[in-house]
Amino acid sequence: MRRPLVAGNWKMNGSLQSIQELLATITAGVADGIKADCAVFPPFPYLGEVERLLSGTVVRWGAQNVSQRAPGAFTGEVATAMLLDFHCTYVIVGHSERRALYGESSAIVAEKFAAARKAGIIPILCVGETLEEREGGVMETVIAEQLDAVIELEGIKAFDDAVIAYEPVWAIGTGKTATPEQAQEVHAFIRGRLATHDADVAARERILYGGSVKGSNAAELFAMPDIDGGLVGGAALNGQEFVTIIKAV
Ligand code: 13P
Repeated sequence: MRRPLVAGNWKMNGSLQSIQELLATITAGVADGIKADCAVFPPFPYLGEVERLLSGTVVRWGAQNVSQRAPGAFTGEVATAMLLDFHCTYVIVGHSERRALYGESSAIVAEKFAAARKAGIIPILCVGETLEEREGGVMETVIAEQLDAVIELEGIKAFDDAVIAYEPVWAIGTGKTATPEQAQEVHAFIRGRLATHDADVAARERILYGGSVKGSNAAELFAMPDIDGGLVGGAALNGQEFVTIIKAV
């Protein structure tokens, strides 16, 4: 049985004050028990404050990105050891915004995935196609390439300490959610791709859906057999809405 995960990716949003309010709402909202794991992903400068506010609660936290390198002369980068100082459980790697805006190739993403695992941090590997790729009929090729880069570097067993998030680029921040059937189809493809290497790992793998998840559509998405929770952007910045999504599991 896969335990669902609902993850809130705050992207480059928030302030010390807004984070305190947001986390107060979330922790109060989940205090009576939840059927999923849940976690938030603040910008780096707020990790210490998030750790302070969430320690002792059921809500975990992680980072939105990490360097694949050991500490050294890499201006502006953050190493896995630094995330461990703040007891991050997870780190997102390969978000489409990192791939598209900051030129992260699948090879770099695979190295970040490897660095996270080596440090004992659970990577959440994001994969997904653009609208152009979907309409051009290369969706599966694109997603397979994103997965294969990691499988080749780390091996299939590595997915036992990892989470995958399917985030169709055309559904991110657009209000255009994939239908549950569209998402399920791709989730089944991803699980099938893993199963060609190891059926047991594939069956255990948590695959989250991301892209305009809201309180109003979460339940129907999470009800699909291969969708094991969500990676939520905009709606995770509203405490009540995020709690509604967690409770939709
Ligand atoms: P939205 O939920 O705002 O579409 O963002 C999804 C996302 O990119 C989460 O990582």
